[in-house]
Parts: sequence; structure tokens; C-alpha cells
Amino acid sequence: MVALGVRVAVAEEPATFRSAEVCRPCHTMIYDEWRQSSMARSPELAGWSLEASLEALRFMGQEEKIRPLCYACHAPVARHTGPLDLSTSPHREGVTCDYCHSVRAVEVSSRINVATVVPGEVKTGPHADAVSTGHETLELPLIRRSEFCAGCHYFAWPTNGMPTDWTYAQWAESPYRDEGVQCQTCHMPRRPGRSSSHPGAPMRGGVASHRFLGARDLPTLQGALALRVRRAGPEIVVEVENVGAGHNIPGGGGELRELELRLVPAEGQARAVARYRIRYLDEDGEVVSGSDDTAIRYADTTIPARQTRTERVRMPVDAAARVELWFWYVNQEVADRDGAEASSVLVASRDVAAE
Ligand code: HEC
Ligand code: HEC
Ligand code: HEC
Ligand code: HEC
Ligand code: HEC
Repeated sequence: MVALGVRVAVAEEPATFRSAEVCRPCHTMIYDEWRQSSMARSPELAGWSLEASLEALRFMGQEEKIRPLCYACHAPVARHTGPLDLSTSPHREGVTCDYCHSVRAVEVSSRINVATVVPGEVKTGPHADAVSTGHETLELPLIRRSEFCAGCHYFAWPTNGMPTDWTYAQWAESPYRDEGVQCQTCHMPRRPGRSSSHPGAPMRGGVASHRFLGARDLPTLQGALALRVRRAGPEIVVEVENVGAGHNIPGGGGELRELELRLVPAEGQARAVARYRIRYLDEDGEVVSGSDDTAIRYADTTIPARQTRTERVRMPVDAAARVELWFWYVNQEVADRDGAEASSVLVASRDVAAE
């Protein structure tokens, strides 16, 4: 008998996720790449630990309710098998090999990481002809598509529906989708070599990189943005174009990230000319955290794929200045509010001479 509308708990098979250390001897290059990536560091969040940010995000007293949510994407093995702590391996490995290579299906939805995951002897991968003595393999066409990444890169805050990580949706609306350019095309480019150091592994047309380079890598960030500056009488015209990202810039980090256009006059105070970012607002238009229940709408000035933002700034013709483009991983506003540390990097700068 089927009870309609009621989810019946089914006894799960004993979990058998393996540590990345098990994969390492046979997949050494991939291991080394992944180890340096944000994926492997994800419980540490590049210095801002998951636990600290749970506190910072003001969930005091509610951590136990909220923690499973965060772990679903940041430490998915712990979420899948429990307990929710990071003291053991592979729990502490963050987004680890055996999580991704046990995924069988992903429901594309802005709800929290909705994936069907079957840990065990079978590793899913991009090839039909892969043969391994270490495990069984299964070709999964999904693994080459953006939908595979959507489980964790498409997320609305559950209580208020505010877009928290909209990367997948932004890509789906960008020209890249129709051109067949997937997340993997840019973030897992093929490099020469074999996917396994194990004898017998074939030489194919390259191996998918596992560095997952993104905003944390300065050359990647610089390659994604074009900054153009010209004079037009008493004004300077500044253009910022998203030339290289398959989604908006800044991307996934919700209210944390910011792209700041700054004017630094030869004489006088530097000032922000524009801030490209997302901000959540309450009924009265006050800025609140995206996870606040009072957040009911948002203002989004991030730059979509292949789009340009043009700013005009008044500047006397006899004055010189520099225009700078800064990327904030944690912007000052959020840092001040949440007691976190702000951090930023200079992406580009252009000098404007006096006439
Ligand atoms: C199980 C969840 C999960 C899946 C699946 C996942 N990611 Fe991520 N990804 C994360 C988390 C969590 C972070 C953030 C880590 C941090 O900032 O500490 C992240 C960060 C990133 C970054 C940011 C790197 C940076 O340094 O700016 C890129 C790029 C990325 N992922 C690409 C992908 C791609 C491409 C796929 C699909 C092939 C994918 N991710 C699948 C969870 C996931
Ligand atoms: C649906 C998946 C998902 C959920 C749920 C989720 N995160 Fe994230 N989180 C991500 C991804 C993906 C990134 C990286 C975005 C990027 O690099 O642009 C990220 C980034 C972050 C960052 C910024 C790290 C950095 O690199 O600056 C913090 C802090 C963070 N998450 C904390 C949390 C906390 C706390 C929770 C639970 C309340 C949570 N996250 C829930 C996917 C998720
Ligand atoms: C965030 C998810 C994710 C993580 C973590 C991850 N992989 Fe992958 N892996 C993928 C995706 C996606 C592909 C296919 C990319 C493509 O073909 O476009 C892939 C491809 C592979 C391949 C085939 C490579 C090729 O091009 O022939 C191997 C082998 C592999 N991964 C092993 C590993 C190992 C070992 C680890 C840990 C050290 C790991 N992966 C971590 C997502 C992941
Ligand atoms: C005893 C060595 C060995 C161990 C240990 C091992 N693998 Fe493999 N793996 C291989 C070989 C060999 C291949 C085939 C490579 C090929 O055909 O290009 C392979 C292929 C793969 C593929 C790619 C399938 C494809 O479609 O290209 C994935 C994914 C994978 N392994 C994941 C893992 C993960 C995750 C672990 C750790 C839990 C692991 N492997 C441990 C030897 C090993
Ligand atoms: C056309 C190439 C391209 C495609 C397609 C693409 N990205 Fe990116 N991505 C980039 C570049 C370049 C950056 C660095 C600039 C930036 O931060 O947006 C980046 C940055 C990121 C970041 C870090 C964003 C931030 O501000 O912290 C994440 C997370 C990410 N990508 C995930 C994805 C996912 C998931 C997909 C597929 C849905 C995807 N990307 C598709 C090129 C691409």
C-alpha cells in the first residue's frame, strides 16, 4: 500500500564513501589538483570556517537546525552518512571525490542539493570504456553537463526564497547554454595526460582538470573582466564587461561578493563609483541578510555574461586619475555586520591623464 503524499523512510544501505586518500595512488594528478581547490577546502571556506560562519550568520540557538543545510553542500558526505561533524575522514574532505563520483541523478531545483547518490563500488564518470582494477565504472552523461553542478550551485534560502547561489540559473539564461558551453568546459578544461597513473589506463584526448579555478584565482578573474576607460569632455566613461564568465560577476557567493569600481584621483580621496553586487531588502527597503526572515526582495547589480556596464564620472579636464576594479570576496558591509574579515583583490586598473 502506498501512502500518498507521505515520504516513507527506507532503510539505507550501509554507507561506503571512501576517502580521497584511497583514490590518490591511482589518480595522483587529479588528487593533487583537487587538493588545492576550493572544493577540498570547502568546510574551511578559505579561512572562514563553516562553524564560524554559522555563528556569524546569526543562527545562534538554531545551529542544530541549520547545520544539515550547510553540510549538504559544504560537507556532503557527512550530511549523507552522519554524524554532522568534521572530525573524521572523508567527512572533513569537503566536496570530495567519492561524493561527486557516486552521484547518479540531480534534480535541477533551487532547493538544497537534491541529488541521488549511491555510494559503493561503482564510480560514475564521463567514459563508457573506462576499465579499472580499483572499482567498477559507469558512464554518466550528466557528469559532463551543467545540471550536474546545479545541485550545489543553484539555491534559494528556504524560509524566504531569496536567491543565495544563482550560478546555474544565470548560466541557463546566458548565451553559453545555447552554444553548448557547460560549467565543465570552463572550470574543468582538458589538459594532456592520463586520468590514472595505474598501468593500462588509456591515453585519451586530455583529462578534465580538477582545480575548479574561479574567483579565488586571480588570472581567472582577470580573464573574465574587461575594463575600458576614455575621456568625454568633463566626464570619463568607464566600461566594465563580463567577457569570460558563463554567469554573472560576481557569482555564487550571494551577498558576500562585490565588484567595486573605484576612482582614485591624483589629488583627493578615492571613492567608489559603482558596486556590482546583490543586496537583500526588507519591507522598508533596509538592507538585511539574505537569510533573514524579513528579507522580501533583492537588488541585483551583478553583471550578466557578455554584458557591459557603463558609468560616467565627472572629472575636470585638467585632473588626472586612476580607475581601479576591485573584487571583494567578503565585502566591507557584510564584514562589519557579521564580524567577519573583509577581503579583496585588485583585478585591473587604468590611468586617465590630464588634458
Ligand atoms: C556537493 C556540492 C557541490 C557540487 C556538486 C559542485 N560544487 Fe562547486 N563548490 C561547492 C562549494 C561548497 C564551494 C565553495 C567552497 C568555498 O568557497 O569554500 C564550491 C566552489 C566552486 C567554485 C569556486 C572556486 C573559486 O575559487 O572561486 C567553482 C568554480 C565551482 N565550485 C565549480 C563547480 C563545477 C563546475 C561543478 C560541477 C562539475 C561543481 N562546482 C559542483 C560545492 C559543490
Ligand atoms: C546549495 C548549496 C549550499 C548550501 C545549502 C550552503 N552553501 Fe555556502 N556556498 C555554496 C557554494 C557553491 C559557495 C561558493 C560560491 C562561490 O564561490 O561563488 C558557498 C560559499 C559560502 C561561503 C563563502 C566562502 C568563501 O569562499 O568566501 C560561506 C561563508 C558559506 N558558503 C557558508 C554557508 C553556511 C553557513 C551555510 C548554511 C547556513 C551554507 N553556506 C549553505 C553552497 C552552499
Ligand atoms: C565537484 C565534483 C567532483 C569532485 C570533487 C571530483 N570530481 Fe572527478 N570529475 C567530475 C566531473 C564533473 C568529471 C567529468 C568532467 C568532464 O568530462 O567534463 C570528472 C572526471 C573525473 C575522471 C575522468 C577524467 C577524464 O577526463 O578522463 C576521473 C578519473 C576523476 N574525475 C576522478 C576524481 C578523483 C580521484 C577525485 C578526487 C581527488 C575527483 N574526481 C573529484 C567531478 C568531480
Ligand atoms: C587501483 C587503482 C585505482 C584506485 C584505488 C581508484 N581508481 Fe579510479 N580508475 C582507475 C583506473 C585504471 C581507471 C580507468 C582510467 C581510464 O580508463 O581512463 C579509473 C577510472 C576512474 C574514473 C573515471 C571513469 C571515466 O568515465 O573516465 C573515476 C570517476 C574514478 N576512477 C574514480 C575513482 C575514485 C573516486 C576513487 C577513490 C574512491 C578511485 N577511482 C580509486 C584506477 C583506480
Ligand atoms: C564561459 C566560461 C564559464 C562558464 C560556462 C561557467 N563559468 Fe564559472 N566562472 C568563470 C570565470 C572566468 C570565473 C571567474 C570570474 C567570476 O568570479 O565570475 C568563474 C567563477 C565561478 C565561481 C566563483 C564566483 C564568485 O564570484 O565567487 C563559481 C562558483 C562558478 N564560476 C561556478 C560555475 C558553475 C556552477 C557553472 C555552470 C552552471 C559555471 N561556473 C559556468 C567561467 C565560467
